[in-house]
Amino acid sequence: MVKNKRIVRYPEPKPEQINPLDGIVLEEGAGAPSSSSARAASSLHLAYENTAYGIWLYNDNCLTVLDAIAARYPEGRFDMIFADPPYFLSNGGITCHAGKMVKVDKGEWDKSRGWEWNHEFNTAWLERCQRVLKPNGTIWVTGTHHVIFSVGFAMQQLGYKILNDIAWEKPNPPPNLSCRYFTHSTETVLWAAKTGKSKHVFNYRLMRETNGGKQMKTVWRMAAPGNAEKVHGKHPTQKPIALVARCILASTGEGDLVLDPFLGGGTTLIACIRLNRRFVGIELERHHLSLTFTRADAELVATVLRSLRVTMEISIFFQNDLDPPGRSMDRIGWMKDDGPKTDCIFHETKFVFLSCAVVSSASVVHTTVDVSITEAWANAPEGKKRETTHIVRCKTEIFKIKEHQ
Ligand SMILES: C[S@@+](CC[C@H](N)C(=O)[O-])C[C@H]1O[C@@H](n2cnc3c(N)ncnc32)[C@H](O)[C@@H]1O
Repeated sequence: MVKNKRIVRYPEPKPEQINPLDGIVLEEGAGAPSSSSARAASSLHLAYENTAYGIWLYNDNCLTVLDAIAARYPEGRFDMIFADPPYFLSNGGITCHAGKMVKVDKGEWDKSRGWEWNHEFNTAWLERCQRVLKPNGTIWVTGTHHVIFSVGFAMQQLGYKILNDIAWEKPNPPPNLSCRYFTHSTETVLWAAKTGKSKHVFNYRLMRETNGGKQMKTVWRMAAPGNAEKVHGKHPTQKPIALVARCILASTGEGDLVLDPFLGGGTTLIACIRLNRRFVGIELERHHLSLTFTRADAELVATVLRSLRVTMEISIFFQNDLDPPGRSMDRIGWMKDDGPKTDCIFHETKFVFLSCAVVSSASVVHTTVDVSITEAWANAPEGKKRETTHIVRCKTEIFKIKEHQ
Protein backbone atom coordinates (compact mmCIF):
# COMPACT_ATOMS: atom_id res chain seq x y z
CA MET A 1 0.00 0.00 0.00
CA VAL A 2 2.93 2.38 0.69
CA LYS A 3 4.85 3.59 -2.34
CA ASN A 4 8.65 4.06 -2.02
CA LYS A 5 8.48 2.95 1.58
CA ARG A 6 11.66 3.44 3.58
CA ILE A 7 12.91 0.96 6.13
CA VAL A 8 11.32 1.89 9.40
CA ARG A 9 13.36 1.66 12.58
CA TYR A 10 11.42 1.56 15.79
CA PRO A 11 12.27 1.00 19.44
CA GLU A 12 12.72 -2.67 20.29
CA PRO A 13 10.86 -3.98 23.34
CA LYS A 14 13.09 -4.36 26.38
CA PRO A 15 13.55 -8.05 27.30
CA GLU A 16 12.53 -7.55 30.93
CA GLN A 17 9.12 -6.29 29.77
CA ILE A 18 8.25 -9.59 28.09
CA ASN A 19 7.43 -12.76 29.91
CA PRO A 20 8.35 -15.45 27.39
CA LEU A 21 6.29 -18.10 29.19
CA ASP A 22 3.04 -16.29 29.20
CA GLY A 23 0.27 -15.16 26.96
CA ILE A 24 -1.15 -15.72 23.52
CA VAL A 25 -4.07 -13.96 21.89
CA LEU A 26 -6.50 -15.98 23.87
CA GLU A 27 -9.72 -15.54 21.95
CA GLU A 28 -11.98 -18.31 20.76
CA GLY A 29 -10.57 -20.89 23.14
CA ALA A 30 -7.07 -20.89 21.67
CA GLY A 31 -5.15 -23.76 23.22
CA ALA A 32 -1.51 -24.71 22.77
CA PRO A 33 -0.05 -22.65 19.96
CA SER A 34 0.31 -24.74 16.82
CA SER A 35 0.79 -22.37 13.87
CA SER A 36 3.87 -20.19 13.46
CA SER A 37 1.82 -17.03 14.11
CA ALA A 38 0.50 -18.47 17.35
CA ARG A 39 4.05 -19.41 18.31
CA ALA A 40 5.16 -15.82 17.67
CA ALA A 41 2.27 -14.58 19.78
CA SER A 42 3.07 -17.05 22.54
CA SER A 43 6.04 -14.95 23.61
CA LEU A 44 3.84 -11.97 24.39
CA HIS A 45 3.02 -11.04 27.92
CA LEU A 46 -0.70 -11.31 28.47
CA ALA A 47 -0.99 -9.52 31.80
CA TYR A 48 -4.75 -9.72 32.39
CA GLU A 49 -7.66 -11.52 30.87
CA ASN A 50 -11.33 -11.71 31.68
CA THR A 51 -13.06 -13.85 29.11
CA ALA A 52 -16.49 -13.30 30.70
CA TYR A 53 -16.32 -9.57 29.90
CA GLY A 54 -14.05 -9.97 26.84
CA ILE A 55 -10.93 -8.19 28.13
CA TRP A 56 -7.29 -8.96 27.21
CA LEU A 57 -4.45 -6.68 28.36
CA TYR A 58 -0.82 -6.98 27.23
CA ASN A 59 2.22 -5.57 29.00
CA ASP A 60 4.38 -5.14 25.94
CA ASN A 61 5.53 -2.98 23.07
CA CYS A 62 2.47 -2.48 20.87
CA LEU A 63 4.57 -3.00 17.73
CA THR A 64 5.38 -6.56 18.79
CA VAL A 65 1.83 -7.42 19.82
CA LEU A 66 0.34 -5.92 16.66
CA ASP A 67 2.77 -7.95 14.50
CA ALA A 68 1.63 -11.12 16.25
CA ILE A 69 -2.06 -10.29 15.90
CA ALA A 70 -1.64 -9.36 12.21
CA ALA A 71 0.15 -12.65 11.55
CA ARG A 72 -2.64 -14.57 13.16
CA TYR A 73 -5.54 -12.59 11.69
CA PRO A 74 -4.42 -11.46 8.23
CA GLU A 75 -7.98 -10.37 7.34
CA GLY A 76 -8.06 -7.95 10.27
CA ARG A 77 -9.44 -8.39 13.76
CA PHE A 78 -10.73 -5.14 15.26
CA ASP A 79 -13.87 -3.12 14.60
CA MET A 80 -12.32 0.00 16.04
CA ILE A 81 -9.03 1.34 17.44
CA PHE A 82 -8.61 4.22 19.85
CA ALA A 83 -4.98 5.38 20.01
CA ASP A 84 -3.61 8.05 22.31
CA PRO A 85 0.08 7.81 21.33
CA PRO A 86 3.08 9.66 22.80
CA TYR A 87 2.83 13.35 21.88
CA PHE A 88 6.65 13.71 22.26
CA LEU A 89 6.24 16.63 24.62
CA SER A 90 8.66 15.75 27.43
CA ASN A 91 11.73 17.66 26.31
CA GLY A 92 12.38 20.20 29.03
CA GLY A 93 9.46 22.55 28.33
CA ILE A 94 7.37 24.05 31.11
CA THR A 95 3.68 24.05 31.89
CA CYS A 96 1.34 25.11 34.67
CA HIS A 97 0.01 22.42 36.98
CA ALA A 98 -2.19 23.18 40.02
CA GLY A 99 -1.11 26.83 39.81
CA LYS A 100 2.63 25.99 39.79
CA MET A 101 5.24 26.10 37.04
CA VAL A 102 6.45 22.54 36.39
CA LYS A 103 8.65 20.78 33.82
CA VAL A 104 6.85 18.67 31.23
CA ASP A 105 8.12 15.18 32.02
CA LYS A 106 5.57 12.47 31.44
CA GLY A 107 8.11 9.69 31.06
CA GLU A 108 10.85 8.29 28.81
CA TRP A 109 8.20 7.15 26.33
CA ASP A 110 7.16 10.77 25.69
CA LYS A 111 10.63 12.12 24.77
CA SER A 112 11.09 13.27 21.17
CA ARG A 113 14.09 11.95 19.26
CA GLY A 114 13.63 14.36 16.37
CA TRP A 115 10.77 14.73 13.91
CA GLU A 116 12.13 12.09 11.51
CA TRP A 117 12.32 9.41 14.17
CA ASN A 118 8.91 10.45 15.53
CA HIS A 119 7.38 10.14 12.06
CA GLU A 120 8.96 6.73 11.53
CA PHE A 121 7.52 5.57 14.83
CA ASN A 122 4.07 6.93 13.93
CA THR A 123 4.25 5.23 10.55
CA ALA A 124 5.32 1.96 12.20
CA TRP A 125 2.41 1.70 14.62
CA LEU A 126 -0.19 3.13 12.21
CA GLU A 127 0.83 0.60 9.56
CA ARG A 128 0.33 -2.22 12.05
CA CYS A 129 -2.99 -0.80 13.24
CA GLN A 130 -4.19 -0.69 9.64
CA ARG A 131 -3.31 -4.38 9.22
CA VAL A 132 -5.27 -5.46 12.30
CA LEU A 133 -8.38 -3.39 11.47
CA LYS A 134 -11.26 -5.23 9.81
CA PRO A 135 -11.94 -4.00 6.23
CA ASN A 136 -14.67 -1.62 7.45
CA GLY A 137 -12.96 -0.78 10.74
CA THR A 138 -11.98 2.73 11.83
CA ILE A 139 -9.27 4.30 13.99
CA TRP A 140 -9.36 7.37 16.24
CA VAL A 141 -6.04 9.06 17.08
CA THR A 142 -5.56 11.95 19.51
CA GLY A 143 -2.76 14.50 19.40
CA THR A 144 -1.60 18.08 19.63
CA HIS A 145 0.38 19.92 16.94
CA HIS A 146 3.54 18.17 18.19
CA VAL A 147 2.41 14.90 16.68
CA ILE A 148 -0.90 15.16 14.83
CA PHE A 149 0.48 16.43 11.50
CA SER A 150 2.87 13.49 11.38
CA VAL A 151 -0.03 11.13 12.25
CA GLY A 152 -2.22 12.64 9.51
CA PHE A 153 0.57 12.50 6.93
CA ALA A 154 1.41 8.90 7.82
CA MET A 155 -2.28 8.02 7.45
CA GLN A 156 -2.29 9.55 3.97
CA GLN A 157 0.93 7.71 3.03
CA LEU A 158 -0.54 4.42 4.21
CA GLY A 159 -3.84 4.79 2.34
CA TYR A 160 -6.20 5.34 5.26
CA LYS A 161 -9.27 7.46 4.49
CA ILE A 162 -9.48 10.41 6.89
CA LEU A 163 -13.14 10.85 7.87
CA ASN A 164 -13.07 13.76 10.34
CA ASP A 165 -10.73 15.89 12.39
CA ILE A 166 -12.40 16.57 15.70
CA ALA A 167 -11.34 19.52 17.86
CA TRP A 168 -11.64 18.52 21.50
CA GLU A 169 -12.05 21.84 23.31
CA LYS A 170 -11.17 21.97 27.02
CA PRO A 171 -13.24 24.53 28.94
CA ASN A 172 -10.57 25.05 31.64
CA PRO A 173 -7.10 24.71 30.08
CA PRO A 174 -3.98 25.60 32.11
CA PRO A 175 -2.88 29.21 31.47
CA ASN A 176 0.05 29.93 29.17
CA LEU A 177 2.85 30.96 31.53
CA SER A 178 5.18 32.51 28.96
CA CYS A 179 2.46 34.90 27.71
CA ARG A 180 4.02 34.57 24.25
CA TYR A 181 1.34 32.29 22.78
CA PHE A 182 -2.44 31.87 22.83
CA THR A 183 -3.58 29.49 25.59
CA HIS A 184 -3.53 25.97 24.18
CA SER A 185 -7.08 24.74 24.69
CA THR A 186 -7.73 22.05 22.08
CA GLU A 187 -6.49 18.65 21.07
CA THR A 188 -7.22 17.05 17.70
CA VAL A 189 -8.82 13.64 17.29
CA LEU A 190 -8.43 12.22 13.78
CA TRP A 191 -10.98 9.64 12.69
CA ALA A 192 -10.03 7.47 9.72
CA ALA A 193 -11.24 4.33 7.93
CA LYS A 194 -8.87 1.47 7.04
CA THR A 195 -8.92 2.31 3.30
CA GLY A 196 -10.77 4.40 0.74
CA LYS A 197 -13.00 1.38 0.04
CA SER A 198 -14.12 0.85 3.65
CA LYS A 199 -17.84 1.10 4.40
CA HIS A 200 -17.30 2.59 7.82
CA VAL A 201 -19.88 2.54 10.64
CA PHE A 202 -21.25 5.90 11.78
CA ASN A 203 -24.10 5.81 14.29
CA TYR A 204 -25.53 9.03 12.96
CA ARG A 205 -28.90 8.92 14.74
CA LEU A 206 -27.35 8.20 18.12
CA MET A 207 -24.95 11.11 17.74
CA ARG A 208 -27.78 13.45 16.70
CA GLU A 209 -29.87 12.28 19.66
CA THR A 210 -26.89 12.84 22.00
CA ASN A 211 -26.66 16.37 20.62
CA GLY A 212 -30.26 17.31 21.44
CA GLY A 213 -31.66 16.38 17.99
CA LYS A 214 -29.13 18.43 15.96
CA GLN A 215 -26.33 17.08 13.75
CA MET A 216 -23.20 16.77 15.84
CA LYS A 217 -20.36 19.10 14.81
CA THR A 218 -16.63 18.44 14.91
CA VAL A 219 -16.00 20.67 17.93
CA TRP A 220 -16.50 18.68 21.13
CA ARG A 221 -16.42 20.69 24.33
CA MET A 222 -15.55 18.37 27.20
CA ALA A 223 -13.74 18.84 30.50
CA ALA A 224 -10.41 17.14 31.20
CA PRO A 225 -10.83 14.19 33.60
CA GLY A 226 -12.02 15.39 37.01
CA ASN A 227 -11.28 13.93 40.44
CA ALA A 228 -14.00 11.30 40.05
CA GLU A 229 -11.94 9.68 37.28
CA LYS A 230 -8.75 9.79 39.35
CA VAL A 231 -9.87 8.21 42.63
CA HIS A 232 -7.72 5.13 41.95
CA GLY A 233 -4.67 7.17 40.88
CA LYS A 234 -3.93 9.08 37.70
CA HIS A 235 -1.99 8.74 34.48
CA PRO A 236 -0.01 11.87 33.42
CA THR A 237 -1.88 12.09 30.10
CA GLN A 238 -5.23 10.58 31.07
CA LYS A 239 -8.13 11.20 28.68
CA PRO A 240 -11.72 11.82 29.87
CA ILE A 241 -13.96 8.75 29.69
CA ALA A 242 -16.67 10.83 27.98
CA LEU A 243 -14.38 11.63 25.03
CA VAL A 244 -13.42 8.01 24.40
CA ALA A 245 -17.00 6.84 25.00
CA ARG A 246 -18.29 9.20 22.32
CA CYS A 247 -15.80 7.84 19.76
CA ILE A 248 -16.84 4.27 20.63
CA LEU A 249 -20.56 5.07 20.50
CA ALA A 250 -20.18 6.84 17.16
CA SER A 251 -18.40 4.01 15.37
CA THR A 252 -19.18 0.61 16.96
CA GLY A 253 -22.03 -1.59 18.17
CA GLU A 254 -22.39 -3.64 21.36
CA GLY A 255 -20.11 -6.69 21.45
CA ASP A 256 -17.66 -5.22 18.90
CA LEU A 257 -13.93 -5.68 19.50
CA VAL A 258 -11.96 -2.51 20.30
CA LEU A 259 -8.15 -2.09 20.53
CA ASP A 260 -6.07 0.52 22.36
CA PRO A 261 -2.35 0.12 21.55
CA PHE A 262 -1.29 2.85 24.07
CA LEU A 263 -3.51 1.95 26.99
CA GLY A 264 -1.96 4.16 29.71
CA GLY A 265 -4.25 4.23 32.76
CA GLY A 266 -6.99 2.26 31.00
CA THR A 267 -9.54 4.92 30.01
CA THR A 268 -10.56 3.11 26.82
CA LEU A 269 -11.06 -0.09 28.78
CA ILE A 270 -13.37 1.64 31.28
CA ALA A 271 -15.43 3.10 28.42
CA CYS A 272 -15.64 -0.36 26.80
CA ILE A 273 -16.83 -2.03 30.01
CA ARG A 274 -19.55 0.63 30.37
CA LEU A 275 -20.61 0.31 26.75
CA ASN A 276 -20.43 -3.46 26.55
CA ARG A 277 -17.64 -3.71 23.96
CA ARG A 278 -14.91 -6.37 24.00
CA PHE A 279 -11.41 -5.03 24.41
CA VAL A 280 -7.69 -5.62 23.82
CA GLY A 281 -5.26 -3.15 25.39
CA ILE A 282 -1.46 -2.86 25.15
CA GLU A 283 0.78 -0.89 27.51
CA LEU A 284 4.56 -0.82 27.78
CA GLU A 285 4.90 0.34 31.40
CA ARG A 286 3.92 -2.03 34.18
CA HIS A 287 3.04 0.74 36.66
CA HIS A 288 0.52 2.25 34.25
CA LEU A 289 -1.07 -1.18 33.80
CA SER A 290 -1.41 -1.52 37.59
CA LEU A 291 -3.61 1.58 37.56
CA THR A 292 -5.65 0.03 34.74
CA PHE A 293 -6.16 -3.16 36.79
CA THR A 294 -7.45 -1.19 39.78
CA ARG A 295 -9.78 0.91 37.64
CA ALA A 296 -11.04 -2.17 35.78
CA ASP A 297 -11.77 -4.05 39.01
CA ALA A 298 -13.73 -1.11 40.43
CA GLU A 299 -15.65 -0.71 37.18
CA LEU A 300 -16.53 -4.41 36.99
CA VAL A 301 -17.81 -4.35 40.58
CA ALA A 302 -19.90 -1.26 39.78
CA THR A 303 -21.29 -3.04 36.70
CA VAL A 304 -22.39 -6.02 38.77
CA LEU A 305 -23.99 -3.74 41.39
CA ARG A 306 -25.83 -1.82 38.67
CA SER A 307 -27.23 -5.05 37.23
CA LEU A 308 -28.43 -6.13 40.70
CA ARG A 309 -30.27 -2.84 41.15
CA VAL A 310 -32.05 -3.25 37.83
CA THR A 311 -33.15 -6.78 38.77
CA MET A 312 -34.61 -5.54 42.07
CA GLU A 313 -36.59 -2.77 40.40
CA ILE A 314 -38.02 -5.19 37.86
CA SER A 315 -39.16 -7.62 40.54
CA ILE A 316 -40.97 -4.86 42.50
CA PHE A 317 -42.67 -3.75 39.29
CA PHE A 318 -44.07 -7.24 38.73
CA GLN A 319 -45.25 -7.51 42.32
CA ASN A 320 -47.37 -4.37 41.92
CA ASP A 321 -48.71 -5.56 38.62
CA LEU A 322 -49.97 -8.92 39.84
CA ASP A 323 -53.48 -7.79 40.85
CA PRO A 324 -56.29 -7.77 38.32
CA PRO A 325 -57.53 -4.23 37.43
CA GLY A 326 -59.81 -2.76 40.13
CA ARG A 327 -58.91 -5.38 42.74
CA SER A 328 -55.53 -4.21 43.92
CA MET A 329 -54.29 -5.22 47.34
CA ASP A 330 -52.58 -2.84 49.82
CA ARG A 331 -49.28 -4.66 50.07
CA ILE A 332 -47.46 -1.60 51.42
CA GLY A 333 -49.79 -1.42 54.47
CA TRP A 334 -49.42 -5.12 54.95
CA MET A 335 -45.62 -4.81 54.85
CA LYS A 336 -45.72 -1.90 57.31
CA ASP A 337 -47.65 -3.96 59.88
CA ASP A 338 -45.10 -6.70 59.71
CA GLY A 339 -41.98 -4.54 59.79
CA PRO A 340 -39.97 -3.48 62.84
CA LYS A 341 -40.52 -0.12 64.60
CA THR A 342 -37.85 2.29 63.38
CA ASP A 343 -36.48 5.83 63.68
CA CYS A 344 -35.13 7.50 60.56
CA ILE A 345 -31.67 8.67 61.71
CA PHE A 346 -30.24 9.83 58.36
CA HIS A 347 -31.78 11.26 55.21
CA GLU A 348 -29.91 12.48 52.16
CA THR A 349 -30.86 13.31 48.56
CA LYS A 350 -27.98 13.19 46.13
CA PHE A 351 -28.18 14.35 42.51
CA VAL A 352 -25.85 12.73 40.02
CA PHE A 353 -25.39 14.58 36.73
CA LEU A 354 -24.68 12.23 33.84
CA SER A 355 -23.44 12.62 30.30
CA CYS A 356 -24.62 9.79 28.08
CA ALA A 357 -26.53 8.67 25.01
CA VAL A 358 -28.10 5.77 26.90
CA VAL A 359 -28.24 5.59 30.69
CA SER A 360 -26.44 2.24 30.88
CA SER A 361 -23.37 3.90 29.36
CA ALA A 362 -23.35 7.06 31.45
CA SER A 363 -20.31 8.86 32.74
CA VAL A 364 -20.65 11.01 35.85
CA VAL A 365 -20.16 14.73 35.24
CA HIS A 366 -20.98 16.13 38.67
CA THR A 367 -22.55 15.07 41.99
CA THR A 368 -24.14 17.20 44.67
CA VAL A 369 -26.23 16.84 47.79
CA ASP A 370 -29.22 19.21 47.70
CA VAL A 371 -32.84 19.34 48.78
CA SER A 372 -34.39 19.65 45.33
CA ILE A 373 -33.50 19.24 41.67
CA THR A 374 -34.04 23.00 41.20
CA GLU A 375 -31.39 23.82 43.79
CA ALA A 376 -29.03 21.16 42.51
CA TRP A 377 -29.28 22.64 39.01
CA ALA A 378 -28.92 26.23 40.22
CA ASN A 379 -25.77 25.36 42.22
CA ALA A 380 -24.04 23.31 39.49
CA PRO A 381 -21.13 24.95 37.61
CA GLU A 382 -22.08 26.15 34.11
CA GLY A 383 -19.50 23.89 32.41
CA LYS A 384 -20.96 20.81 34.11
CA LYS A 385 -24.50 21.78 33.13
CA ARG A 386 -23.50 22.01 29.47
CA GLU A 387 -22.18 18.46 29.56
CA THR A 388 -25.18 17.01 31.40
CA THR A 389 -27.77 14.98 29.54
CA HIS A 390 -29.51 13.17 32.46
CA ILE A 391 -29.88 13.69 36.23
CA VAL A 392 -30.34 10.84 38.71
CA ARG A 393 -31.92 11.52 42.11
CA CYS A 394 -30.66 9.07 44.76
CA LYS A 395 -32.45 9.08 48.12
CA THR A 396 -30.73 7.45 51.07
CA GLU A 397 -32.53 6.84 54.36
CA ILE A 398 -31.03 4.98 57.28
CA PHE A 399 -33.43 3.51 59.86
CA LYS A 400 -32.47 2.46 63.37
CA ILE A 401 -34.57 -0.43 64.64
CA LYS A 402 -36.32 0.54 67.92
CA GLU A 403 -37.93 -2.80 68.66
CA HIS A 404 -38.51 -6.04 66.78
CA GLN A 405 -42.12 -7.13 66.13
C1 LIG B 1 -0.68 9.20 25.99
S1 LIG B 1 -0.55 7.83 27.03
C2 LIG B 1 -2.16 7.08 27.00
C3 LIG B 1 -3.07 7.56 28.09
C4 LIG B 1 -4.43 6.89 28.07
N1 LIG B 1 -5.20 7.27 26.92
C5 LIG B 1 -5.24 7.16 29.33
O1 LIG B 1 -6.30 7.82 29.26
O2 LIG B 1 -4.79 6.80 30.42
C6 LIG B 1 0.44 6.77 26.10
C7 LIG B 1 0.83 5.50 26.79
O3 LIG B 1 1.47 4.65 25.83
C8 LIG B 1 2.51 3.93 26.45
N2 LIG B 1 3.46 3.59 25.37
C9 LIG B 1 4.39 4.37 24.80
N3 LIG B 1 5.02 3.69 23.82
C10 LIG B 1 4.46 2.47 23.76
C11 LIG B 1 4.65 1.32 22.94
N4 LIG B 1 5.58 1.31 21.98
N5 LIG B 1 3.87 0.23 23.16
C12 LIG B 1 2.92 0.24 24.13
N6 LIG B 1 2.70 1.29 24.94
C13 LIG B 1 3.45 2.40 24.75
C14 LIG B 1 3.07 4.87 27.50
O4 LIG B 1 3.68 4.16 28.56
C15 LIG B 1 1.82 5.64 27.93
O5 LIG B 1 1.27 5.08 29.11
